[in-house]
Amino acid sequence: MMLLGPDGTWVSVPSSRVTVLGRGDLVVIQGGAETVISGALTASHELTAAGYAGLLECGVISTFFATDTYFPAMCSRWEARHVLAVLQPRFASPDGDSRVLDVCAGPGRLSLHVLEAGHQLDAIDISEEALDQLRYKAAGAGLSSRLSTFVVDAANFARPDHYAFAYCAANSIKYLGSMSRVQRHLRMIYRSLRAGGAYLIHVGLSVRPGSVTWRGADGRRVDWTVEEPDPRTSEAVERVRVTGPKSASEHVQVQVLLHGADLTAMAEAAGFAIGAMWGEDFTRVPKGELSSSTGNVWALLQK
Ligand SMILES: C[S@@+](CC[C@H](N)C(=O)[O-])C[C@H]1O[C@@H](n2cnc3c(N)ncnc32)[C@H](O)[C@@H]1O
Repeated sequence: MMLLGPDGTWVSVPSSRVTVLGRGDLVVIQGGAETVISGALTASHELTAAGYAGLLECGVISTFFATDTYFPAMCSRWEARHVLAVLQPRFASPDGDSRVLDVCAGPGRLSLHVLEAGHQLDAIDISEEALDQLRYKAAGAGLSSRLSTFVVDAANFARPDHYAFAYCAANSIKYLGSMSRVQRHLRMIYRSLRAGGAYLIHVGLSVRPGSVTWRGADGRRVDWTVEEPDPRTSEAVERVRVTGPKSASEHVQVQVLLHGADLTAMAEAAGFAIGAMWGEDFTRVPKGELSSSTGNVWALLQK
């Protein structure tokens, strides 16, 4: 569910965990227990400061949208090379008239490489700050004329028959927060692609409930918890908490757990055929294995 935050930016919360009560209260359901946040919404259903703070305290608001700087440049270049290898020349040619869509583009980790390769690119993201950074970097590199940006919720964005190719990297599709929103997003992207177009998605599939912690060499700590599925919706939430090394900074990312079978069924329901599949390192995997895959994969959905 999307709620308008007190500072006017959109906030995404998992619909399987957060319910609106009458009189502007919210209920957060976690581990079978319910927490009521009183006075969380204004009369026009915007989040109050108390509502925002309450949701943050319950750990159901994502906070590291705009500051996603966790990928080394080298790995981004390598990933972009593979995205470009899928994209061209089959779906779009550099300096052609076809447009490419970067879904949940963030500050442009991959977008800049696609622009540099000569493509016309539309970048969408819910974070205005992230797209500001992308536009700033594109201007610095003299690439602005090929770039358009849109601050939108990816579950509610469509430009019918407009794009030759779309991609969504870094597991961002799971940030949409619920299965119904992922399904809606896939339908929107299907409509947005021209006939013969394709959507490349990088996604982590079928993780099991439990917790794991990584400690980076730079002192960063990542706690990743996968909750048990909610019995009412059968949906599970993954919560990634990153704690900074020196500062007291803490970032939380809340995302919906996706299984390969869910993704396959939703993609097909949206009209797509599974076109190809690769592992995290871009080694080819038989496409029929998507429905039983676990871990990080790249899936090519074809219109
Ligand atoms: C992990 S970052 C990935 C950024 C970029 N794709 C990359 O590969 O580096 C996820 C991005 O998804 C964006 N995002 C989260 N929810 C969104 C939504 N509902 N609609 C559009 N963008 C969203 C965040 O703002 C963030 O920039």
